[in-house]
Amino acid sequence: MSALFEPLTLRQVTFPNRVWMPPMCQYSAAPEGPETGAATDWHFAHYAARATGGTGLIIVEATAVCPEGRISPYDLGIWNDTQVKAFRRITGFLRSQNTVPGIQLAHSGRKASTDRTWKGGNPVGPEEHGWQPVAPSPVAFDDKHPVPTELSTDDIREIVDRFAQAARRALAAGFEVAEIHGAHGYLIHEFLSPHSNHRTDAYGGSYENRVRFALEVVDAVRAVWPEDKPLFFRISATDWLEEGGWTADDTVRFAAELHAHGVDLLDVSTGGNAAGVRIPTGPGYQVPFAARVKAETPMPVAAVGLITEPGQAEKILVGGEADAVLVGRELLRDPYFARHAARELGGDVHVPEQYHRSV
Ligand code: FNR
Repeated sequence: MSALFEPLTLRQVTFPNRVWMPPMCQYSAAPEGPETGAATDWHFAHYAARATGGTGLIIVEATAVCPEGRISPYDLGIWNDTQVKAFRRITGFLRSQNTVPGIQLAHSGRKASTDRTWKGGNPVGPEEHGWQPVAPSPVAFDDKHPVPTELSTDDIREIVDRFAQAARRALAAGFEVAEIHGAHGYLIHEFLSPHSNHRTDAYGGSYENRVRFALEVVDAVRAVWPEDKPLFFRISATDWLEEGGWTADDTVRFAAELHAHGVDLLDVSTGGNAAGVRIPTGPGYQVPFAARVKAETPMPVAAVGLITEPGQAEKILVGGEADAVLVGRELLRDPYFARHAARELGGDVHVPEQYHRSV
């Protein structure tokens, strides 16, 4: 049996295989009205297809814990009960296909209020449903983005509470994994990195102060997320800056702390917080960062980034570099990636009863 198709259990949740789908924004929710931020037919069809394809875990795209935490006006949200109800249809279907339903809880910070990526992703103003972004410090991401408003300590407390409320709603919506979005230059990453965090209070300056907000969010979420369900954290393992940024060493140190705070798996990505840096992309280019966390801490890890071939994914697991792989764009191209990989490598994968004659 291939390693990719060996089940994995974290807390009381068993993942049927280790081919997982990472969060990928669809920018397909209503930007206004009573259904704002609620999942639509598009989301149902999109996630259902990857579940019938045998994906072991689907982490639903970055879902905002409050309206200002959306990346675009078209993002999913989880700040009201209409949104919870819309998610239930998706989580119920995923479970019926033996896919574990997960959700990424997010706040976009200074990179908020932009248009959909296929429309250019540029900042949008109030006339296009936009708003004023917030951040640890009044420093713009780049010269296209506006200068964000600096958060007060009261604002920070409020956002921590929003994450906890979102986790409570995610549970009511039927999710079994919650992932905190601490990567890609969004709010939590902005606090972690000295590149974006210039604060001089208890939330800025030293490493201990910069990780404070992330740990407060983790503790608040862990307090409401059930003991029997796993909590993930997505990190950008490096800012890819020569100096003045978050580094791989910081990630290793922080991974051990996150584990002690009840995080069950680190989803290891990179970048997104410093504009214009050169990132040496290539097949599996982020895997070494995951492997280092796995080797140097007790934290289980998932690897992500240009993992597109079954044999490549298998090698990452067999080599002990990660506990699972997240396959992003390849799952957009091929919703049946897991089934194709099972056929190539030899492994059992869920096939819908309705398709039994295709086995
Ligand atoms: C992404 N990515 C992403 N990451 C994240 O943490 N939250 C998100 O909502 C999104 N949204 C998103 C949308 C789309 C269309 C893409 C292509 C990507 C990043 C994604 O999860 C993954 O880390 C990267 O795509 C790298 O993996 P692949 O695609 O090389 O397998």
